[in-house]
Amino acid sequence: TPVAAVIPAAGRGVRLGPGAPKALRALNGTPMLIHAVRALAASRHVSLVIVVAPPDGAAEVKSLLDAHALPVSTDFLVVPGGESRQESVRLGLDALPPQYGIVLVHDAARPLVPVETVDAVVEAVRDGAPAVVPALALADTVKEVEPAAAAGDPEPVVATPERSRLRAVQTPQGFDRATLVRAHETVTENVTDDASMVEQLGLTVVAVPGHEEAFKVTRPLDLVLAEAVLARRRL
Ligand code: C5P
Repeated sequence: TPVAAVIPAAGRGVRLGPGAPKALRALNGTPMLIHAVRALAASRHVSLVIVVAPPDGAAEVKSLLDAHALPVSTDFLVVPGGESRQESVRLGLDALPPQYGIVLVHDAARPLVPVETVDAVVEAVRDGAPAVVPALALADTVKEVEPAAAAGDPEPVVATPERSRLRAVQTPQGFDRATLVRAHETVTENVTDDASMVEQLGLTVVAVPGHEEAFKVTRPLDLVLAEAVLARRRL
């Protein structure tokens, strides 16, 4: 079964501070999106990458992909994105040619995911799981709170889930294509990842080991960490 990757890259990246859309910001001189595309195309399983660009930035993203060396064995498509991550992923799925039976969805904001993680996700879908997430155990204890009305106000703690049963999930998340398409047709409320939509269909999502370097570049400190990881890889 051929495998395609959809990379939503239409977010503004407000939490990163002022500047270009997040996916177009540079890490060691190369746009984050290009790192992310290369990370997915590095997998021998992935033969198509669909990049979902900012709605007014598809031409710019297309010329970025043309300007950077990318593996010849992988095809690329660029489509304009939407208002929410969910809508951007759906627009990417709409552009998916019929032969692709397995779909990965990968945040442009996780530019450094190692190929071993990508391959582990693909292999778990090939082994029959309808949905697969890379996941890591947590260092911090997590509390559920009653969110405060005003930022900075004290928030009552409601519960403390047992840490050993919690996981932080990353991308790429992998799916049987028909399952992901049905999830996007069925689930309308806002979600923060694609796998939770499949959970809402009543199907089992499985977790495989994630990787520290697949962290999400969200806040300014994450840019410092990402550049340090790249520098260490070059040694
Ligand atoms: O906002 P968040 O960090 O959850 O975004 C995750 C990914 O979704 C990023 O790669 C971002 O570019 C993408 N996104 C998108 N379209 C939106 C919002 C976010 O493609 N409207």
